[in-house]
Amino acid sequence: MKTVEFTIPGNYEVLKIVDRPIPDLLEGQLLVRITLAAVNAVDNTVRSGKFTGRHTPVILGNEGVGIVIKGNSDFTEGTRVMISCFTEGGQIRGIYTNGLWAEYIAVYPDELIILNDSISDEEAAAFPVSFFSAQACLNKAEFQPGKSVLSLAVGGGVGNAAVQLATVLGASQVITTAGSTQKYEKALLYGFQNVIDLSKESISDGVMRITEGKGVDIVIDSIGGNLTGEAIKSLSRNGILVTIGYSAGTTFSANITDFVWKGLQMRGQSLNGWFDRDAEKEIWNQLMPLLEDAKLKPLIAKVYDAEEVAEAQRFLIEERPFGKVLIKF
Ligand SMILES: NC(=O)c1ccc[n+]([C@@H]2O[C@H](COP(=O)([O-])OP(=O)(O)OC[C@H]3O[C@@H](n4cnc5c(N)ncnc54)[C@H](OP(=O)(O)O)[C@@H]3O)[C@@H](O)[C@H]2O)c1
Repeated sequence: MKTVEFTIPGNYEVLKIVDRPIPDLLEGQLLVRITLAAVNAVDNTVRSGKFTGRHTPVILGNEGVGIVIKGNSDFTEGTRVMISCFTEGGQIRGIYTNGLWAEYIAVYPDELIILNDSISDEEAAAFPVSFFSAQACLNKAEFQPGKSVLSLAVGGGVGNAAVQLATVLGASQVITTAGSTQKYEKALLYGFQNVIDLSKESISDGVMRITEGKGVDIVIDSIGGNLTGEAIKSLSRNGILVTIGYSAGTTFSANITDFVWKGLQMRGQSLNGWFDRDAEKEIWNQLMPLLEDAKLKPLIAKVYDAEEVAEAQRFLIEERPFGKVLIKF
């Protein structure tokens, strides 16, 4: 079978197509033929060697969709399934364990979610990490209907998912950002509202304009870097910022008086190692009916062949597309 692997961390080109035997199944495991998998920012982090202690060769890939080849009575042959980003033990697939950038994977039944016909392969492959992360962040921020939410990066996986979720779950107002005018215009074409074009206006100026000086109750920050300090300025009294990502950097500066005078809180969220099966299931049970009813729509920027994976990663990281990047097996 075909896999995408690297042995020595490095630039995009270290990713190679390798021919490997189809995996043997451990007791209780099922065999799934992967059809589409997503490319995520963390794949770039692992490939460039920022996670130490990984056994090589490394197969990346957190999430995807496929067809059951060897199943059981619940997952019969030919069933179309979404593969959860979580493996046994709550680890995210493809970070410290091998992922699913391969034609076949061996998985346990509770790592699979059966798809109904209303969900396309593309949507299913793009869904798990972004929407699970967004829901986890909203939960961490104690989101309730009626709260106002700023989710940074309308075109980013997590950013867009948090915009969609906050809207569907009844936020009083949802505000988002676009790093360029081109992205801003695309966001309007998709029908997103309250988008701040960061090439023209700062986050806090945009939020204060849109909220008429009130600020927002919650910020979901999947960007980090200097934008985090700006986002903190956008919170209203008792506001909560939840940070999950650092695409733009791991450090920021903020004004302490924003925290002191407004009673703000900043909280962190991560997926890897933070959800046992019950906690994980609870979030899938919140999310899947919304996906099945098309109330959530994962957006796809581009689908590549597996052989083009190096370019797919470069495209995601350097061109910051609007929507998710997928690879086809
Ligand atoms: N800890 C966890 O469990 C967890 C889970 C999911 C994601 N994450 C992390 O969260 C972050 C966002 O994930 P994602 O899937 O939403 O990523 P993504 O799809 O690549 O989106 C990131 C967005 O950040 C914005 N951005 C601003 N400055 C950037 C820069 N210097 N480089 C790249 N992007 C920049 C871009 O939007 P604009 O062009 O509009 O600025 C971009 O679209 C990543 O760091 C990811 O690793 C962590």
